[in-house]
Amino acid sequence: MTFKPFLLPMLILVTQAPAAQAQATTPAQLQKAYEAAAGSPAQVERGRVFFTSRHGAEWSCASCHGQLPTGVGKHAVTTKSIDPLAPAFNPKAFTDERRVEKWFRRNCKDVAQRECTPGEKADVLAWLQTLR
Ligand code: HEC
Repeated sequence: MTFKPFLLPMLILVTQAPAAQAQATTPAQLQKAYEAAAGSPAQVERGRVFFTSRHGAEWSCASCHGQLPTGVGKHAVTTKSIDPLAPAFNPKAFTDERRVEKWFRRNCKDVAQRECTPGEKADVLAWLQTLR
């Protein structure tokens, strides 16, 4: 059999397919990772307070996501609807690590003028998972 050059790229595609999904995760897994980075367990009540309070800027997380993010949120500026953040009401929430990190980065800067700490992320996520 002669060597077929097109086989190699195909093989690479096949073997790399699982890597494309390496960002897939679950809310519980993410919380564990944030807790590990923070070095302490999450606190549900602290997460609720962080989410619903302002941190020196005009908005809180709740300004766009709602006081109880179990329903569709409404962007404070564009009024565009936002899918529920609580995983029990949105099976896609906190299942894509890259996406979660992107929004945490952007939203925490809007609300707190800085990135959220791993501890704050763990707290918020712990609280969101108690909402049913
Ligand atoms: C100015 C409006 C706004 C504010 C304020 C805001 N968010 Fe968001 N957030 C969004 C939008 C828009 C999305 C994308 C949602 C969509 O596509 O339905 C989003 C998505 C997210 C996601 C991604 C969830 C996922 O898995 O898809 C997380 C996490 C998140 N926000 C956390 C926060 C936290 C924590 C705060 C407070 C520090 C906050 N947000 C404040 C607008 C906002």
